[in-house]
Amino acid sequence: MTTVKTDTRYKLVEATLRRHGYSANALIEGLHTVQEAWGYLDPDVLRWLARTLKLPMSKVYGVATFYNRFVLKPQGEHSCVVCLGTACYIKGALNTLKKIEHDLHLTPGMTTADQRVSLLKARCMGSCGLAPVVVMDGALVGKVSPEQVTERLQEWLA
Ligand code: FES
Repeated sequence: MTTVKTDTRYKLVEATLRRHGYSANALIEGLHTVQEAWGYLDPDVLRWLARTLKLPMSKVYGVATFYNRFVLKPQGEHSCVVCLGTACYIKGALNTLKKIEHDLHLTPGMTTADQRVSLLKARCMGSCGLAPVVVMDGALVGKVSPEQVTERLQEWLA
C-alpha cells in the first residue's frame, strides 16, 4: 500500500498547496493536481487534503462535486492510470496506452462493459526517474512495459 511518505504524487499536491499559501483558495488548485496525478479524486487523498488545508471534508466534497470535470472514482473494480507526463511520454507511455486501448477497446475515462477495469490517464506523478509509470489499483509501477501492463490486465479480466 502506498502512503503519504512513499507516494511521490503527494509531493506534487503539496507543491501546489505551497504555491497558493495553503489557503482555502488552494483547494481547487489542489483538487486539480490530485486529479492530474491520480486520474481521479481518490477519497484517501481528499481526506489528506482536507487535513492539510484544515478544511472540513464537507467543504472538500462540496467543491469536488460542484465541478463536473472532477472524477470522484474510477467506475470499475480495478483502475489503471497511465502517466502521460513528459518523461513518461518520452519513454514510450503512449505505446502502453495504445496497447491497452487496443486490447480492451477503451479510451481513457472509460470502463469495460463488465465494470471490471477503468482506464484513466494522468499527468506527471512525481516519479519521472521511474518513467514510464502506470498506477494499477493504486500501486505505482515504474519502468513498465506495455506487455507487463497487458499481463496484469489479463489477470484482472480472467
Ligand atoms: S512524467 Fe510520468 S512520473 Fe513524471
